[in-house]
Amino acid sequence: MISSSKRVALITGANTGIGLVTARELARQGMHVFIACRSKERAQPALDEIRALGGDVQVEFLPLDLGDLDSVRECARQFLARDLPLHLLINNAGLAGSPGLTKSGFELAFGVNHIGHFLLTQLLLERIKASAPARIVTVSSRAHYRAKRIDWEAVRQRTHTRTAIEEYGVSKLANALFSAELGRRLAGSGVTTYALHPGVVASDVWRAVPWPLRSIIKLAMISTEQGAATTLHCATSPAAAQESGLYYDSCRVKAPSKFAQDTTLAAELWKRSEQWVA
Ligand SMILES: NC(=O)c1ccc[n+]([C@@H]2O[C@H](COP(=O)([O-])OP(=O)(O)OC[C@H]3O[C@@H](n4cnc5c(N)ncnc54)[C@H](OP(=O)(O)O)[C@@H]3O)[C@@H](O)[C@H]2O)c1
Repeated sequence: MISSSKRVALITGANTGIGLVTARELARQGMHVFIACRSKERAQPALDEIRALGGDVQVEFLPLDLGDLDSVRECARQFLARDLPLHLLINNAGLAGSPGLTKSGFELAFGVNHIGHFLLTQLLLERIKASAPARIVTVSSRAHYRAKRIDWEAVRQRTHTRTAIEEYGVSKLANALFSAELGRRLAGSGVTTYALHPGVVASDVWRAVPWPLRSIIKLAMISTEQGAATTLHCATSPAAAQESGLYYDSCRVKAPSKFAQDTTLAAELWKRSEQWVA
């Protein structure tokens, strides 16, 4: 591994929304930032915006479609081939409200929001451990409180509901369970983990809501700048470095749902996810 003068961060889905603001702020703070996105064309304006900060800002693109496990493997391969350390992984990308099935055969929200990130984290984990102290931040949502269980059959099928909101909640419960289980597994390694709710943010995540309803509901939401605050707290605050495996809202530790605290469910999700991505 090449020693790097800058700390290195990789963030998924940073071409827009909360991820873009997070990437820009990390670059501004002097990190070498990789934005892993599914479209080079949509990522280019984000790269331009971040590079326009000037100075010795370093930001690069990596291709990543979280719904396609081959693409996840290729993204990790390309990053690892650079021989750089990895001090910060932010599993930020996500979608809501779109029914479907991923290319790799998972319910769309579960496949993109959880399974893609599960595999990406696994593939990068040895590099992250070798770069400790390091952090892994996973953007969940308060929507996880709605999910009371994970239907192991349903997550391997096309979205059942028309709105896909129920499935989104399950995927965000999986994010919270994954982060907590990862924290337990990494205890003592110097790598700490965080799951969070960013707030209700006026980002592109609402793209499935029909206009003009979309423009009306967005008026009541916080900005993407405000929405990135909790991710940045988990990623950079010295106080958070002492914590691991917890869930955050408004830059503070908060209790997730009782299902998100179920260690048996977390272990089962881990075991099944490992088998699914093998
Ligand atoms: N906005 C909120 O109120 C809110 C509330 C709670 C939690 N969250 C969570 O916050 C995170 C960021 O969301 P946001 O609000 O910033 O939404 P956003 O503006 O829609 O950004 C989502 C990002 O995820 C990317 N993405 C979607 N599917 C992908 C795939 N298959 N592979 C790779 N990247 C993919 C999108 O890329 P494209 O541009 O190519 O689609 C985009 O870059 C998500 O995990 C979301 O669930 C948001």
